[in-house]
Amino acid sequence: MARSASLLFLVFLLSSPLYFVSVLCQSSLSRLFIDCGSTSNIPTPDGLGWISDIYIDVGRNHNLTLPNLHPVLSTLRSFPIRSDLDSPLKFCYVLPTNPGGRYLVRTTYFYGGFDNGSAPPVFDQIVDGTFWTTVNTTADYAAGMASYYEGVFLAAGKKNMRVCVAANTYTTSDPFISALEMILLDDSVYNGTDFGKYAMGLIARSSFGSAGSIIRYPDDRFDRYWQPFSDSTHAKSSTHNITTADFWNLPPAVVFNTAMVADQGKPLVLLWPPNSLPDAIYYIALYFADTSSLQSTRTFNVFVNNYSFYSNLTVSSSGLVVFSNQWNLSGQTMVTLTPGSPGTPLISAGEVFGLFLIGNLTVTRDVIAMEQIRENIISPPPGWSGDPCMPQDYSWVGVTCSYGLQIRVVSLSLANNNFTGHIPNLSRLRNLEKLHLQDNQFTGTITLPFANLAKLQELYIENNNLTGEIPPSLFRDGLDFRYLPGNNFSSVPPPPNM
Ligand SMILES: *[C@@H]1O[C@H](CO)[C@@H](O)[C@H](O)[C@H]1NC(C)=O
Ligand SMILES: *[C@@H]1O[C@H](CO)[C@@H](O)[C@H](O)[C@H]1NC(C)=O
Ligand SMILES: *[C@@H]1O[C@H](CO)[C@@H](O)[C@H](O)[C@H]1NC(C)=O
Ligand SMILES: *[C@@H]1O[C@H](CO)[C@@H](O)[C@H](O)[C@H]1NC(C)=O
Ligand SMILES: *[C@@H]1O[C@H](CO)[C@@H](O)[C@H](O)[C@H]1NC(C)=O
Ligand SMILES: *[C@@H]1O[C@H](CO)[C@@H](O)[C@H](O)[C@H]1NC(C)=O
Ligand SMILES: *[C@@H]1O[C@H](CO)[C@@H](O)[C@H](O)[C@H]1NC(C)=O
Ligand SMILES: *[C@@H]1O[C@H](CO)[C@@H](O)[C@H](O)[C@H]1NC(C)=O
Ligand SMILES: *[C@@H]1O[C@H](CO)[C@@H](O)[C@H](O)[C@H]1NC(C)=O
Ligand SMILES: *[C@@H]1O[C@H](CO)[C@@H](O)[C@H](O)[C@H]1NC(C)=O
Ligand SMILES: *[C@@H]1O[C@H](CO)[C@@H](O)[C@H](O)[C@H]1NC(C)=O
Ligand SMILES: *[C@@H]1O[C@H](CO)[C@@H](O)[C@H](O)[C@H]1NC(C)=O
Repeated sequence: MARSASLLFLVFLLSSPLYFVSVLCQSSLSRLFIDCGSTSNIPTPDGLGWISDIYIDVGRNHNLTLPNLHPVLSTLRSFPIRSDLDSPLKFCYVLPTNPGGRYLVRTTYFYGGFDNGSAPPVFDQIVDGTFWTTVNTTADYAAGMASYYEGVFLAAGKKNMRVCVAANTYTTSDPFISALEMILLDDSVYNGTDFGKYAMGLIARSSFGSAGSIIRYPDDRFDRYWQPFSDSTHAKSSTHNITTADFWNLPPAVVFNTAMVADQGKPLVLLWPPNSLPDAIYYIALYFADTSSLQSTRTFNVFVNNYSFYSNLTVSSSGLVVFSNQWNLSGQTMVTLTPGSPGTPLISAGEVFGLFLIGNLTVTRDVIAMEQIRENIISPPPGWSGDPCMPQDYSWVGVTCSYGLQIRVVSLSLANNNFTGHIPNLSRLRNLEKLHLQDNQFTGTITLPFANLAKLQELYIENNNLTGEIPPSLFRDGLDFRYLPGNNFSSVPPPPNM
């Protein structure tokens, strides 16, 4: 299933100085590093650094007071779940994006016992209308580590991307988030993927033959993390540097400083990525450069799970990338490099992503209408953020949608909520079939809010404090209209058939 295609993967230690150099110096829209739960910016030496938690209006800030914790991990934001609701709740960051931009999104979680509980909550991540993955940091937390997830998404909205955490049936305590990063990628990066149809979730990004620390910014200009992956016998260092400015996917040049090299005349077999994978479609990119001397080249064959990935690959000192934008994997993956003639195989770096279908968004008109309604209710229902209908199991509380060619809001129930004030203007929700507003304390007249709702079949407004006249148009065939008891209408026209 697509939702398990992106996994929890690599982790970093609490005391790692990872966050001290997080700077990409381009325009303000090309990177955004949010220190969730923080009320102040965390400066870095160049003055950019992490910003405080300003792109969300729900949730609660917490400070952790554990020793040696990096500042970014020492604050977090949590979101209240409600046991009395049967629908899942989502809580969304609304982040400014360039339209059509392709963003690397990285979320970081470190529980730290913020709620005095004994184990981290398990919950979901959503980007716009797309279910991304389940967040389960239990094992990492038990090992004293934070967890991060990375995905690549096209900015589908005109101005914003919504990155959300959401409660699910397995969520038994409040979900939270420690850090959220958005980095705009160049259009050429991962351009083998049809981002109109798919998003990518990182499984592994490895620098082979390296035993050093994670390679990242400034070596990687997009601050992608390249984790060391090696064994004791096949790691080799390079004897010269290469340039990667014209490489597909723009890998950092330093990943070519090391490689894993086969024993002469033998194949090189890598169990990589190390985790067992669910049966799904993946993007695989493998990076090679012959770093033994400027003149040398070597030819070998690449197999993935015994299927030929590339035959007679000729690798020289200038290096190359081989990728598949759709490759089926399942279980443990085995990458095998077999010698050609001449050639001892080697490999410098690799990336594997799960591909998952992106979810469509609700019709813009209905989104705007729902957002206006939210703004006009004094305390809107919990979890009213992100797309009102998508992902399909995560529509807003009280909202039901139709999922045909267009995704539209077809029913809205705000019944029994103690809402006060005037009924918000609902005229934009042209496809509304059911509207339940009974058992609140709405006041004012009802001439305006229900104009244009030609498809309405049920309209319940009893037990409010409504006044004025009832428009005769509401007494029409095919509309089940309930307005009494509990209102103070000045005149009630007789039903039309009397
Ligand atoms: C966390 O610590 C900061 C700085 O000490 C403080 O301003 C903020 O109010 C604290 N937040 C909470 C939720 O206690
Ligand atoms: C956790 O326990 C401490 C000490 O009893 C208390 O001050 C704090 O409010 C508790 N925090 C939460 C989120 O329950
Ligand atoms: C979360 O991960 C832990 C440890 O890997 C596992 O035991 C647990 O079943 C997982 N929880 C869920 C809800 O998947
Ligand atoms: C992807 O980017 C590379 C440059 O890195 C370019 O050569 C190639 O034509 C692009 N492919 C597509 C489909 O845009
Ligand atoms: C490669 O470049 C780095 C700095 O850019 C330098 O420290 C290193 O010595 C170079 N390696 C070789 C083999 O030239
Ligand atoms: C690949 O082939 C080897 C040797 O024939 C075999 O041991 C291994 O199980 C195969 N792996 C897969 C994933 O089919
Ligand atoms: C690889 O090259 C060798 C020698 O040029 C050739 O005999 C062989 O058929 C090629 N293999 C494939 C799979 O193309
Ligand atoms: C890959 O998986 C898809 C569905 O996940 C399937 O339709 C397709 O046939 C598979 N391709 C191969 C080569 O197994
Ligand atoms: C999104 O909409 C397009 C066109 O309406 C449709 O082909 C596609 O299947 C939809 N995607 C999903 C995930 O439902
Ligand atoms: C509405 O208000 C009453 C009285 O204050 C309270 O008992 C009830 O729980 C409230 N209902 C909801 C849904 O908030
Ligand atoms: C209600 O919304 C509709 C559609 O946007 C608009 O035409 C109408 O003027 C609004 N009515 C009021 C009273 O604001
Ligand atoms: C609604 O009307 C009742 C009875 O007229 C009154 O007691 C109550 O205070 C009103 N509520 C609001 C919110 O106006």
